[in-house]
Amino acid sequence: MRQSSLVVVANRLPVDDSVAPDGACEWRRSPGGLVSALHPLLQQTPATWVGWAGGTGPAPTLADVDGVRMHTVPLAHDDVRDHYEGFANSTLWPLYHDAVEQPVYHRRWWEAYQRVNRRFAEAAAEAAEPGAVVWVQDYHLQLVPELLRTLRPDLRIGFFMHVPFPPPELFMQLPRRAELLLGMLGADLVGFQRPQAAHNFAQLATKVLGLAATDRRIAVGERVVRIGAFPVSIDMREMEALAGRPDVVRRAAQIRRDLGDPQHVILSVDRMDYTKGIEQRLKAYSELLAAGHVKVRDTVMVQVAVPSRERVEQYQVLRDRVEREVGRINGEFGRVGEPAIHYLTQPFDRAELAALYRAADIMAVTPLRDGMNLVAKEYVAARVDGGGALVLSEFAGAAAEFTQAFLVNPHDLEGLKSTLLQALQASEPDRAARMRAMRDHLRVHDIRAWARSYLTALDQSGVLVNRLTT
Ligand code: ADP
Ligand code: G6P
Repeated sequence: MRQSSLVVVANRLPVDDSVAPDGACEWRRSPGGLVSALHPLLQQTPATWVGWAGGTGPAPTLADVDGVRMHTVPLAHDDVRDHYEGFANSTLWPLYHDAVEQPVYHRRWWEAYQRVNRRFAEAAAEAAEPGAVVWVQDYHLQLVPELLRTLRPDLRIGFFMHVPFPPPELFMQLPRRAELLLGMLGADLVGFQRPQAAHNFAQLATKVLGLAATDRRIAVGERVVRIGAFPVSIDMREMEALAGRPDVVRRAAQIRRDLGDPQHVILSVDRMDYTKGIEQRLKAYSELLAAGHVKVRDTVMVQVAVPSRERVEQYQVLRDRVEREVGRINGEFGRVGEPAIHYLTQPFDRAELAALYRAADIMAVTPLRDGMNLVAKEYVAARVDGGGALVLSEFAGAAAEFTQAFLVNPHDLEGLKSTLLQALQASEPDRAARMRAMRDHLRVHDIRAWARSYLTALDQSGVLVNRLTT
């Protein structure tokens, strides 16, 4: 077994198994914010990524991806059902996102959560060279830091939570709340997207575990665990380079022609998830059409919604409802050859996404709750022409950084409608000034700055930081 000085541990590997048009098996980058953030970063260092390849049964052997070793963790059918679909995505995910859907809890899911976390900790222990940095990601693996510390006390262990970390009122509902907190506290540094999340975590450490805690440090026995906010970002240079490519510019123009050369294109790109506010957005658009504020000939909407977690009931229900609503809106407002909503469920490659971003006058990113939302950042990065307007939910982590976006409360339907109209009708200089400010911010706060600030705090020797982020 080859070992690495940097090991990333995340439930999902950065590649997905898919079938090519000729029937062969091929691997493509998995949609989702965690992979988008870490994938470009790791290409610069000999690292190992420990994760699940998405299937059941024996783990496939994967070749390195852009120089990063893939260490697959096998999951059996029961593990996927009870850990991934169960405790991770039916208990923790809804609870951490303001309980916008009802969290469900079963004792057998907790057993699986422990079992799978143990397997990931063992895999990480195998892949890490002596004294390595191991960086554990997200809500699926909250027990890994403590389990790994017991197996390998020589390691420096970081944990980063990509999703929101809820206030005590919500977290206290969890039957195994103490264990989950103790698991995370096995790390040397626990990072969150927002300062409020670090504050919630500190409060819970005191309330549930009786530990002395501030928003920066928590005393755990002899150790001090540092905590803090490190808002994740994207590879701005990569997206700018893509969006500036002549073939991407041509493709963006083609997309607009294919849409019938409307005056305005409104775009949304989401995983099909109930946290993303897709239904509320469709309703707002449909009411604007019904009231005659926008007309299908002038204003078309493109909704990309790639299916996600398809065996979880709440996701199936959502997909059915979204598809019914898209059908209703197109039936009511579309014409032959002129649908009101162009609805796409396919995964796209990065160049096609960049072309879509460049083709969109308005990007509507209106989640009910989101840890960060990297789509918003990708859109801003793609607008190398300085054009476009971002309508952004106040409840996305990105709103704390993009204060010049057209900010909106997606629960307020009237507010959503008026903000969409405001963005549609804004003057060119107003839009350009907003976009410029957001691009300036992103240039400074890109993925390298994120990694540098997190890894500087974690690995005080600085060796890794220099290698990874220059
Ligand atoms: P989440 O992490 O909840 O999925 P984010 O907005 O932070 O939300 O990240 C989503 C990531 O997935 C982005 O990098 C986006 O480009 C990618 N993505 C979303 N939809 C697609 C799609 N249809 N095809 C390929 N990538 C997608
Ligand atoms: C969010 C989570 C990630 C997850 C991604 C895609 O970004 O924070 O941990 O990988 O969604 O979800 P999936 O269930 O397909 O891994």
